[in-house]
Amino acid sequence: MKDIYILGIESSCDETAAAVVKNGREVLSNVILSQIDTHTIYGGVVPEIASRKHIESIVQVVREALDRAKMQSSELDAVAVTYGPGLVGPLLVGVSYAKAYAYGCGKPLIGVHHIEGHIAANYIEHRELEPPFMCLIVSGGHTHLVNVKDYGEFEILGRTMDDAAGEAYDKVARAIGLGYPGGPKIDAVAGEGDPGAILFPRAHIEGDEYDFSFSGLKSSVLNYLNSCEMRGEKVNTADVAASFQEAVVDVLVENSMKAVDRFKADRFAIAGGVASNSALRSAMEKACGERGVGFYKPSPLLCTDNGAMIACAAYFDHMKGDFAELTLNAIPNLRLGDRS
Ligand code: KG4
Ligand code: ZN
Repeated sequence: MKDIYILGIESSCDETAAAVVKNGREVLSNVILSQIDTHTIYGGVVPEIASRKHIESIVQVVREALDRAKMQSSELDAVAVTYGPGLVGPLLVGVSYAKAYAYGCGKPLIGVHHIEGHIAANYIEHRELEPPFMCLIVSGGHTHLVNVKDYGEFEILGRTMDDAAGEAYDKVARAIGLGYPGGPKIDAVAGEGDPGAILFPRAHIEGDEYDFSFSGLKSSVLNYLNSCEMRGEKVNTADVAASFQEAVVDVLVENSMKAVDRFKADRFAIAGGVASNSALRSAMEKACGERGVGFYKPSPLLCTDNGAMIACAAYFDHMKGDFAELTLNAIPNLRLGDRS
């Protein structure tokens, strides 16, 4: 069978990324330009600044991805791009560039759902992994528990009712003075704290056993910090970080394993920025191990936003002949399973 080479472009938030992937699983290049240093000054992603930064760097990032893969644009089989969900300005930069690039080199265009990309990151390092399997996607904007029935075919079992898991990490990190991005900082500090020091609430949604809610947990951490301040007590940042993290991980693992047991899944994967969290990785590994369920996780570099996961997801669309028109638009609130 002929080898398929896909260029994947990702710009839905604060990473300008491009990659070339062969046959959906072999990464020939994966260039990620993070804007984190710029947004750190503001304590979070500023959409307008993110858009401008993407415009400044997308040409160079794509060129570098082809150079590192030692490929010419004429050798590509398709150009894939994230078209939603995400921030509209940043998405538009990637979509417009991908359309122009595909048109310029006469290659088909493939529009990829960002979450589908995160799930597909698991295929890259686990070549034996194929649907069906269950997947928890935890990122700055999403918390989804999904039954991956086939490539591109999903059943959403649970989702967050309010904040995403990564959003909760970022907000709590800001409150305890760790700054942005909060996830990796809490992960590091929590290692020095006692996860049992403070009992923060674990939210359970009545009637929707696979759904999540993190806003009550976030408020509870803020209340704890306020009451310490009012009593003039010094806050142990490491203990707060560790106790908060334990509460998040407990709920993520509990709901996921409920679904694994109920649907008798024999493989379970995690994906998204929060999937690089060390406590989550080891708790999931343990819970899956106890059940004899195969556990899959991308390496941390493939958990954060990147172009390789987009090219990988696009490969399966390419196999089905599922191409986009040049009228493809950015859809900031695109739902998983929807097609433009
Ligand atoms: O998937 P991602 O790169 O972007 C989105 O699609 O949102 O995820 C970014 C999120 C941020 O909220 C960040 O704080 C969180 O992932 N994150 C982590 C860790 N590394 C990144 N959260 C917990 N522990 C980590 N080690
Ligand atoms: Zn993401």
